Amino acid sequence: MVPLKRRKVLCSHTGKTGNVCKFPELVLFLLERKMGASRRAFLSELGQKKGFKVEDKFSESVTHLISENNSGDEVRAWLDSQVGGRGRTLAHLLDVSWYTESMRAGLPVDIQDKHKLQEQTDEAETETFSVPSYACQRRTTLENHNTVLTDALSLLAENAELSEEEGRGVAFRRAAAVLKCLPKVVMDMTQLRGLPCLGEHSLSVIKDVLENGASSEVEATKNSERYKALKILTGIFGVGAKTADRWFRDGIQTLHQLRDSGQTLNRAQQAGLDHYDDINQSVTKAEADIISEIVEKAVVAVLPGAQITLTGGFRRGKLTGHDVDFLITHPEEGREEGLMSKVVSWLETQGFLLYQKTTRNSYLEAKDGPARPASNMDRFERCLSIFRLSKEKKRGAELTETLTENLKTPPSCSSSHVQQGGDREEGGKPWRAVRVDLVVSPISQFGFALLGWTGSKLFERELRRWAGREKSMSLSSHALFHNKQSRYLRATTEEEIFSYLGLEYVKPSERNA
Ligand code: UTP
Ligand code: MN
Repeated sequence: MVPLKRRKVLCSHTGKTGNVCKFPELVLFLLERKMGASRRAFLSELGQKKGFKVEDKFSESVTHLISENNSGDEVRAWLDSQVGGRGRTLAHLLDVSWYTESMRAGLPVDIQDKHKLQEQTDEAETETFSVPSYACQRRTTLENHNTVLTDALSLLAENAELSEEEGRGVAFRRAAAVLKCLPKVVMDMTQLRGLPCLGEHSLSVIKDVLENGASSEVEATKNSERYKALKILTGIFGVGAKTADRWFRDGIQTLHQLRDSGQTLNRAQQAGLDHYDDINQSVTKAEADIISEIVEKAVVAVLPGAQITLTGGFRRGKLTGHDVDFLITHPEEGREEGLMSKVVSWLETQGFLLYQKTTRNSYLEAKDGPARPASNMDRFERCLSIFRLSKEKKRGAELTETLTENLKTPPSCSSSHVQQGGDREEGGKPWRAVRVDLVVSPISQFGFALLGWTGSKLFERELRRWAGREKSMSLSSHALFHNKQSRYLRATTEEEIFSYLGLEYVKPSERNA
């Protein structure tokens, strides 16, 4: 009988097979690919008998990965395909010759160059990319070479957001954003090696798309009753994920069912339902320009010297959007007070507004200050509106034509057909509804407001994350606060804010993360 002490040592070094493990610091793994299952089983058993630890499954603890007739790239591709493996193994990638020589020697032989899998000379062909981890450190134009992949990830992000799983949503958005900034089409998982923000889940979706042309998870989501219904219901202006989910659980999946359900809708939601089709049709840059002219005219009429800036996606160079965003200010601090209500009255009188709701400016530096958690909600005076835009072709004449057109048939006249359901009308109506956001900022906060309202949403989120984590600063659409120095960092331009944050300036057209 083996003495107790000796037996203990033996046990800990004894593999499942009962063979004594002589080289516990080595964990071997034989790749079945091209070697074949039976040869692999044979070689594994041989190794175990000789006192080697040969694992059946690949894991991070593997120190020597042995393959036969595989190139280094093939093995790395295989590694990349292992969910969770991510190809980041520290293991030696060796040819089977090292293994057979070691078997013959009865111990692990020294690793020589001839044993190492060749770094393929065409390594440069499978180009890998280098990408900084925060989206605000990158330049992301609208030129996306990987729309198939980013669409798949964005759909999963959207689905997570609809389910109020914010964390998952952000993870998918970050992954999509990394792919958006790559200079080329991704053909192969190996190209993704070393990229930030690509978690296990996102990688498996990408792999699915690269290998099969589509992701089964994305397809299943897209076709699920829940996703379809929530998408329809949140398409109503004024309806968020929470409300849509409540309605869905009440058995409401379509606009018809919603109308028949007798659910009470607030004023925004009623307007959203009335103009559903129009609002869900994207706004073109040409339409945004016409609306710019109208808003400019309103602003200048009520306060000469006031300035308007087109923000949101259109400022980033997008050709379409879901709404049109404007920032209004006046070069003299304080002159912007009371401006919004005058602008809204002017627009209303001219018949441009189908709906509007204004919220007052509730930002008070002394009160709100930096203690507030970084949030994307800001406190500017803001008007969420639905514009009535005349469908005219000639841009120059647009404004006057719209004016006369609107005065002929003010919005209230159109509400009869609207109640019966949507914007459809025999022969088509001569106008369309467009979502417009107006924001008024005092000039002292204008730089921050402009930066905050230009987006993209992910870019903004990443700026705030960068500020907090890397710089101990709190960034909002109102101000930048240095947490350690307990002081505000004043800025009038976006360039200054990037500079405070220690970031290279990224122009709006490169913020499409
Ligand atoms: P949008 O939602 O309009 O996004 O917000 P977008 O980029 O213009 O996209 P499309 O083209 O309309 O679909 C514009 C910016 O305004 C900020 C967002 O963070 C985004 O950067 N924003 C929006 C706020 O700061 N606060 C809000 O309440 C809403
Ligand atoms: Mn927008």
